[in-house]
Parts: sequence; structure tokens; C-alpha cells
Amino acid sequence: MDKPGTVVVIGGTSEIGKRLAQRYAERGHPVVVTSRDEGRAKAAAQEVGDNCIGLSIDLSKPHEIAPALADVDDVCHLVLVAIYRDENTIRDYDIDKALSLITLKLVGYTETIHTLAPRMRRDGSIVLFGGLAKDRPYPGSTTVTTINGGVMTMIHTLAIELAPLRINAVHPAVVGDSPYWANKPAAVLDALRARTPLGELVTIEDVVGATMFLLENRGVTGVNLRVDGGWMLM
Ligand SMILES: NC(=O)c1ccc[n+]([C@@H]2O[C@H](COP(=O)([O-])OP(=O)(O)OC[C@H]3O[C@@H](n4cnc5c(N)ncnc54)[C@H](OP(=O)(O)O)[C@@H]3O)[C@@H](O)[C@H]2O)c1
Repeated sequence: MDKPGTVVVIGGTSEIGKRLAQRYAERGHPVVVTSRDEGRAKAAAQEVGDNCIGLSIDLSKPHEIAPALADVDDVCHLVLVAIYRDENTIRDYDIDKALSLITLKLVGYTETIHTLAPRMRRDGSIVLFGGLAKDRPYPGSTTVTTINGGVMTMIHTLAIELAPLRINAVHPAVVGDSPYWANKPAAVLDALRARTPLGELVTIEDVVGATMFLLENRGVTGVNLRVDGGWMLM
């Protein structure tokens, strides 16, 4: 049997990223997780398991991405989870924060794929993280909404240019048990639940499952998958 390929999770200190890394480590894959901070990357790698290494990469500094990934090889799955939320509004606009986030998602994601694509297995796959702020903005989501729209269209060119590699995107609604949302006021979360046909917010597990489906299903490429409990239908 072929030895399992390497799984790379960019933004592997997020709960979603770490959970994904753990799933593939449990299956015997070598795993790489990243953070902006070397200490956090190494701590996350230790949590994931023996066959995991942690690398420090800041996607908002795209020229540093290729050197940081120089030793990563034989990749079967690449997952781009990283985000830095700039919490910008148009009336109170912070240019530097916006530039940092736009660079991270639109240039940093692309440069990471550019760097690793030649080192991916022919049947490899990539998942980019967007989110439903592209359709349903929230206060402070001005840049997040914009970049999620960018992810949605970026996968179309990537899926054509990089075929037979498969490229898809996952777009979660509010993930109720993720650290960013779990501590929001109950009234905010209740209002979101009330607009979700399933009556519950989606969970980290739901998003991890959807990501693994996109990574592994041989018939799926160029797809933007909503994971929202039906939120967009309301
Ligand atoms: N949580 C939700 O409800 C939700 C909803 C819709 C979409 N999403 C999407 O799901 C993904 C994960 O969200 P999350 O809430 O789990 O994220 P999170 O907990 O805020 O984690 C963000 C991750 O990105 C990394 N990161 C931050 N800035 C970076 C940079 N400049 N370069 C490289 N890595 C950087 C962080 O690592 P360090 O801090 O260690 O550097 C961390 O691993 C995001 O892409 C987000 O857009 C989430």
C-alpha cells in the first residue's frame, strides 16, 4: 500500500484546523500545522501527535511563504484555514488591518498554493476557507465579506489551472462552538439560531466533516460548499 501523503493545515492553531490535523494524524498521515508564532505552531503540533510538525508562517507576508515551506513535500491534502479578522467598517476604516487581511487571504492563500502545488500528488486536493459573511455581513465584516467573495471566485480559476488537482472551498455560517463566536452575548446567538432551520448553529465537527468530504471525494472540484444548517434559506 502507498504510504500516506502529507497533510498541510495552514492556520493549524485554530480549533477547526487542529481538529482536521488530528483526524489525518490518526489515519497515519504526516501532518504539518502552521501559526504566525513558532511556539504556538510547535504546541499545536504536539497536541496533534508524534507525526506532526509545526511551522511558523505569516500569510500577510507572502514573500516569506515559499522559504517557510521549503522542506514540505509529498502533499496529498492542503487546507487553508487561516484568518485574521480586521473588524473593519466603512465608516471607521483601518487601512493597515484591511491590507493585512486582504493580503493574507487573497495573496497568501494563492502564494501557498503556488508554492505547494508542484509538490502535491497527482490526485491531491486543496480546500480554502471562505465563509457566509460573503452573503450575510455582520458589524465589522466589511473586509471579511469581501475576501470571502474572493475565495468563492478564486477556486474557479484554480480548479481549471491546477487540474487534475481538485480545489474546493467551504463556507461555514457562524460556527457556534468556535472561540470567536462561543462567547458572544446569548441574545446574538439566539437570534442566529432562530434564523437557522435546523434550530442549532453549525459546529466545528460539522465543518471538519464537510472539509474532509471536499478533500476526499474524487468527483468534486470547483465547488463552494455552504455549511449553514439551512441559514441561507431563511
Ligand atoms: N468561526 C466561525 O464561525 C467561522 C465562520 C465562517 C467562516 N470561518 C472561517 O473558518 C476559518 C477558521 O476560522 P476560526 O474562527 O476557526 O479561526 P481562528 O480561531 O480565529 O483561527 C485563525 C487561525 O489563523 C491563523 N492566522 C491568523 N493570522 C494569520 C496570518 N497572518 N498568517 C497565517 N496564519 C494566521 C491563526 O494562527 P495564530 O494566531 O497562531 O498565528 C489561527 O490558526 C477562517 O478562514 C474563517 O474565515 C469561520
